Amino acid sequence: MAKIKTKWVCQNCGYETPKYIGKCPDCGNWGTLVEETEVKTPAAVQSVVIDDSPICLINEIEITESIRIPTGFEEFDRVLGGGLVQGSLVLLAGDPGIGKSTLILQTAGNICGQNKKLIYVCAEESGSQVKLRAKRLNVNTDNLYVYSQTNLEAVINQLDTIKPDVLVIDSIQSVYTSCITSSSGSVSQIRECTNILMDIAKNKNITVIIIGHVTKDGNIAGPKVLEHMVDTVIYFEGDKYKSQRLLRAIKNRFGSTNEIGVFNMVDNGLVEVVNPSELFMKERTENAAPGSVIIAAKEGTRALLVEVQALVGSTSYPSPRRVSTGIEYNRLLQIIAVLEKRIGLNLSKHDVYVNTIGGIDIEEPAADLGIALAIATCFRDVVVDSDCVIIGEISLSGEIRNVSNIEKRIYEAQKLGFKKAIIPKLNKKLPDGFNIEVIQVSRLSEAIKVCVYKK
Ligand SMILES: Nc1ncnc2c1ncn2[C@@H]1O[C@H](COP(=O)(O)OP(=O)(O)O)[C@@H](O)[C@H]1O
Ligand SMILES: [Mg+2]
Ligand SMILES: [Zn+2]
Repeated sequence: MAKIKTKWVCQNCGYETPKYIGKCPDCGNWGTLVEETEVKTPAAVQSVVIDDSPICLINEIEITESIRIPTGFEEFDRVLGGGLVQGSLVLLAGDPGIGKSTLILQTAGNICGQNKKLIYVCAEESGSQVKLRAKRLNVNTDNLYVYSQTNLEAVINQLDTIKPDVLVIDSIQSVYTSCITSSSGSVSQIRECTNILMDIAKNKNITVIIIGHVTKDGNIAGPKVLEHMVDTVIYFEGDKYKSQRLLRAIKNRFGSTNEIGVFNMVDNGLVEVVNPSELFMKERTENAAPGSVIIAAKEGTRALLVEVQALVGSTSYPSPRRVSTGIEYNRLLQIIAVLEKRIGLNLSKHDVYVNTIGGIDIEEPAADLGIALAIATCFRDVVVDSDCVIIGEISLSGEIRNVSNIEKRIYEAQKLGFKKAIIPKLNKKLPDGFNIEVIQVSRLSEAIKVCVYKK
């Protein structure tokens, strides 16, 4: 007799408790706990787990370079740290409709083009829907097996016959394992299925890509609960109403997590953006506008030029509004405080809105000086030269701190035709070979003086 157990599981974070409670003590959400019945058939679970690797001394272990499968997209490869590692488990997460299936199907075509076998499990769609999409995307379909199946055991049964190099599960929310009886999409199912897929990846040396939908309301278990289980977590983001898409690694056991990949969604699929800086400044006009500044940010190993815009206007609220998009809110508050105290801008009666163009998130402090100048120029109705790029971190005392990788940033600016760069004095002099006017500043007040002029 199988043992029947029920438990209440938070569909948002995976917290488990034997009794119902209204508020999840782990993530703080209300009403997210759902009762799940669990019937484990131990034999079925154990049959998947065959791990007989021996225990050994670290000195006896030989380092084997992990084999990587190129995805055919340079942008995707960079985010992965140089391609898909053979035998790894990758989670690709994103909002429904953002283009996950599109990206994976195109990638599948590229991988099959290298004479590798791939099984694409389309648990949400029929085979003919996938075929239609493959046709629209011009996907190479040799060696590409499509399996419209929601039962994971049925998928496992196919592995020994087809012996694929890569297995794609689209999506993890719509497959289920017969080992447990919870409905598909529940936290228990998602977790159990991912466990089984991890075993497949490690024991059969198959690269497994699982697609997961992210939902904001927490009704369907999000991929958040899976993040610690898989090797690599990649988010596919973007504004559904715009064509631009960003790939970002949140976790990566085989590479860095600060790389981004940029794509454009067009009629016949996703196209890599070779020069992303142009994208993040594309709405910029020839003539500079007050409140608009170009910064040189670093995303992973490459520099990106991004436009920052600020809007400052007198407020009609009891306490003025501060709104930021793409820039951390507290960072904005700190920059406003420095502008008030060190420069004497009185922003206490003004609303301040700051955003980045193209919806990219700028996290690094090297954007501080650009943000400050965007706010200051909008407030005073003056402009920063349109061919000037701004780089620098601001300390609370109003000094400009040095930033890393200054040469890479300036090189990118020069490549895109910028004539001038404002950089921290604390950074060393640039090596020869740059064909751009570099102005080094030590204080915020100095920066405002040198690069701001009347309209
Ligand atoms: N027939 C079509 N022509 C052009 N674009 C399409 C077509 N069908 C879907 N798309 C684009 O693909 C997107 C859906 O991509 P998809 O890969 O199915 O998303 P996901 O798998 O993340 O839910 C749509 O938002 C749309 O932009
Ligand atoms: Mg899809
Ligand atoms: Zn929770």
